[in-house]
Amino acid sequence: MVLGRGIDWRWVGFKALAHALALLPLASLVQGVIEDSLGADPVAALTHATGDWALRLLLLGLALTPLRRLTGQAWPIRFRRLVGLYAFFYAFLHLAVFLVLDLGGYWTQIFEDIVKRPYITVGFAAWMLLVPLAFTSTRGWMRRLGRRWAQLHRLVYAVGVLAVLHFLWLVKSDLREPLVYAAILAVLLGARLWWRLRRPPGQAPARGA
Ligand code: HEM
Repeated sequence: MVLGRGIDWRWVGFKALAHALALLPLASLVQGVIEDSLGADPVAALTHATGDWALRLLLLGLALTPLRRLTGQAWPIRFRRLVGLYAFFYAFLHLAVFLVLDLGGYWTQIFEDIVKRPYITVGFAAWMLLVPLAFTSTRGWMRRLGRRWAQLHRLVYAVGVLAVLHFLWLVKSDLREPLVYAAILAVLLGARLWWRLRRPPGQAPARGA
């Protein structure tokens, strides 16, 4: 519903709801810290929860373009920036928990970890690739970069692969959970590849593909 001064209140409501939903995991973690209910190893609980939410939101962000194609509706694309930025937000918290609480201030230790522990190497690579995506997510950067913006933001596919690899690599025995994420990612990237291969030569990709 668009009222007098051109504000679409229904859209404002959906966005507010999306922000509230995206902040729920953080609220639950803060509550867990305050109530001391995160279990025997609260630092591990925080690391795992923030990593899980970074990955879930990343995959949700990647699901929005296929959803738009399948439904023919434009609204999924309007949530893409918000979801992507929350993925980055949780990845940022994930790294912050690791640096501050896990390494206990011995931050330079991370460079040793990057070299010695492959799952940290790929996690760090995923994190580093997310930074330029978050930075250039604004309309201003979209305008400034033009076609290169879409090319740059295809890095998110690599981030997805690295993040799933990070999870697969760190799990010691039960691979089921990371394999579920790997399967979801494979479907999301596979759908894009399928559509791309079926596109007649010379035809521009669908917006947001
Ligand atoms: C510098 C970057 C990163 C570091 C240092 C890092 C570090 C860690 C550590 C220490 C763990 C726990 C390992 C264990 O249980 O032994 C972990 C788990 C995890 N991380 Fe990362 N990570 C990074 C980036 C990322 C990114 C970018 C994502 C996703 C977008 C991610 C997703 C996950 C997931 C899903 C888990 C497993 C959570 C679970 O066990 O349920 N990480 N990470």
